[in-house]
Amino acid sequence: MTEARAIARANIALAKYWGKSDIPLNLPAVPSISMTLDGLVTETTVAFEPKLRRDRVSLDGRTAKPKEIGRVVELLDRVRAAAGIETRARVVTENRFPTAAGLASSASGFAALAASASAAAGLAWNDKRLSREARQSSASAARSIYGGFVELPAGKPGNPRCAAKPIAPSSHWDLRLVVAVTATGRKKVGSTEGMERSRKTSPLYDAWVERAPKLNAKVRRAIKARDLDKLGQAMEQSTFSFHACAMSAAPGILYWQPPTLAALHVVRGLRDKGTSVWATMDAGPHVKAVCEAESVGKVKRALRKAAGVTNVLSMKLGDGIEVFR
Ligand code: DP6
Repeated sequence: MTEARAIARANIALAKYWGKSDIPLNLPAVPSISMTLDGLVTETTVAFEPKLRRDRVSLDGRTAKPKEIGRVVELLDRVRAAAGIETRARVVTENRFPTAAGLASSASGFAALAASASAAAGLAWNDKRLSREARQSSASAARSIYGGFVELPAGKPGNPRCAAKPIAPSSHWDLRLVVAVTATGRKKVGSTEGMERSRKTSPLYDAWVERAPKLNAKVRRAIKARDLDKLGQAMEQSTFSFHACAMSAAPGILYWQPPTLAALHVVRGLRDKGTSVWATMDAGPHVKAVCEAESVGKVKRALRKAAGVTNVLSMKLGDGIEVFR
């Protein structure tokens, strides 16, 4: 086997990962829970070609930047070491994300890369191993190996065996995610850099790491019980806690833009009028609202009216990776 293709989907954390307990192994300091999303797909093909002198990486039709290539090569090197080969690879990655979705693709990207590269190298890695290898590249990618609701435990420093596990399939609960895309304007601080600065300088970091497991457990229980109010309360607290931690770093990291706040208030306004809808955010300005299928129309209409919101899209739960050999 020298060529394989894989598809992976993005995920959104309901209980957030923010902070590392071991940087070389990229172990999360806190547990997190996500839902895998339908419609945000990365497709990656890896071919090991003996005539290549170095790895070639194409990303959405362009040659990847040196930093991006470095992260891809690091994962390919782990695959080569496990397979006992030295052959260089051609990597072609396409993100099929709706235009202007404003969503990151590193989770689906590294999940698809781990799956396609290992299959192309002839390794029969199971989902647990794929999750662990994807996690080492980007911890949120560990969760995109599986569909439905997925948990990634905190890692124990020095122990590389940290992988995500599925906690409920997508058929368990027809939750929806409504994304309010906001105009960005400012260059953002990436997650890796943001969480490191938070760890080193934020006075709220230790409190976050101590509290996060309780919020994570509340999110897990609420998913199992299909209790949206309980899920939403814990999810919003998780989001606001990690943002507070980032904001109070030195220098402070502020992902919010004026439309972010407008959208958050729209979500609260809907709740005040009796709709169970709750917000979460990643390391960026967009607001993601979680609600039941029956409320999607109402939530989309309301968010479209929020000042500065440029696009609103909704998503269902999606499946885990698919590999084509
Ligand atoms: C805010 O997985 O991108 O989206 O492991 O450094 O690559 P690295 O970080 P990454 O962080 C995602 C952080 C988050 C919350 C989450 O997805 O849990």
